[in-house]
Amino acid sequence: MKFSRITGTGGYLPERILTNQELEAMVDTTDEWIQERTGIKQRHIAADGETTADLGTKAARLAMQMAGKTADDIDLIIVATTTPAKIFPSTACLVQQQLGIHGCPAFDVQAVCTGFVYALATANSFIRSGMAKTALVIGAETLSRIVDWTDRTTCVLFADGAGAVILEESDEPGILSTHLHADGRYEELLHVPNAQASSDDAQKVEAHICMKGNEVFKMAVNTLGRIADETLAANNFEKEDIDWLVPHQANTRIITATARKLKLPMEKVVVTVDKHGNTSAASVPLAFDTAVRDGRIKRGDAIILEAFGGGFTWGSALLKF
Ligand code: UT7
Repeated sequence: MKFSRITGTGGYLPERILTNQELEAMVDTTDEWIQERTGIKQRHIAADGETTADLGTKAARLAMQMAGKTADDIDLIIVATTTPAKIFPSTACLVQQQLGIHGCPAFDVQAVCTGFVYALATANSFIRSGMAKTALVIGAETLSRIVDWTDRTTCVLFADGAGAVILEESDEPGILSTHLHADGRYEELLHVPNAQASSDDAQKVEAHICMKGNEVFKMAVNTLGRIADETLAANNFEKEDIDWLVPHQANTRIITATARKLKLPMEKVVVTVDKHGNTSAASVPLAFDTAVRDGRIKRGDAIILEAFGGGFTWGSALLKF
């Protein structure tokens, strides 16, 4: 049986930084409220004309460089995104074009904030079944384009960015297990109507992120705690066997509660939400890349990736780096 292993990581954040102080001038909020309730201090916003595919391509190039791969080596591209540059072609096809890769399968995965975990699980299955050898897996978002900038309950949270990994065939694992879930009953708690394609006239309005934040918060904390236990049990791992938790970056209070349930000290948790905000599908690979590049995550470390988001969807992966 073949395994898959991450051999390169990359991340890209747009140049423009939007601070909490700037948001104070835009909506009825304060830096103090945002930091206390979310942990966010700043976020990055894509420039006019800068697309999700552009961000994903920049992250991909860095991941390929770290893994020592060229365009010819890549035989699968999966992009997790909720903010595709176009309805079609997929963002994966646009990234493929920008990277000068031709012919390999390329498609998007839509699982909102859990998108990268879904994409990684899919690429892992392709490699383990012999359908691919070297996959490029990307999470990329331009959420600033679907935020209502007059709604203080959401505009202080969401942001833009991209993270990528190269996942390669390997004799050693690699990805030890992945766990994916969804429950569509919670559609109304977190959603974006489709202004162009909706059959419902009432939804043919400008489409923005609509979220009942407090209810999502409670579900996220409970669900992320449960999926961490499920992941450990599936691998006969104890809590002490984990070197790093790389969670979806939505809110430091959710991250701290999950770490507490896992009895992991915060020194073993990668937190980037303070600088990146909530970048949805990009948040896990961006946080992962940050900790690899600053030397915290090392080869051989045991790592849990986990995420929760619209759908609801939730998922995790246990891996040895
Ligand atoms: O990534 C996908 C999954 N998404 C998440 O995981 C997000 C989960 N939710 C959250 O992170 C939190 O619920 C929020 C950060 C969105 C909100 O924090 P909260 O502690 O749950 O606040 P709340 O929604 O209960 O609102 C408390 C108060 C309200 O005022 P009243 O009704 O108590 O007078 C809000 O109107 O805070 C008010 N408020 C704000 N005040 C200042 C809401 N947003 C703001 C704001 N600035 N930006």
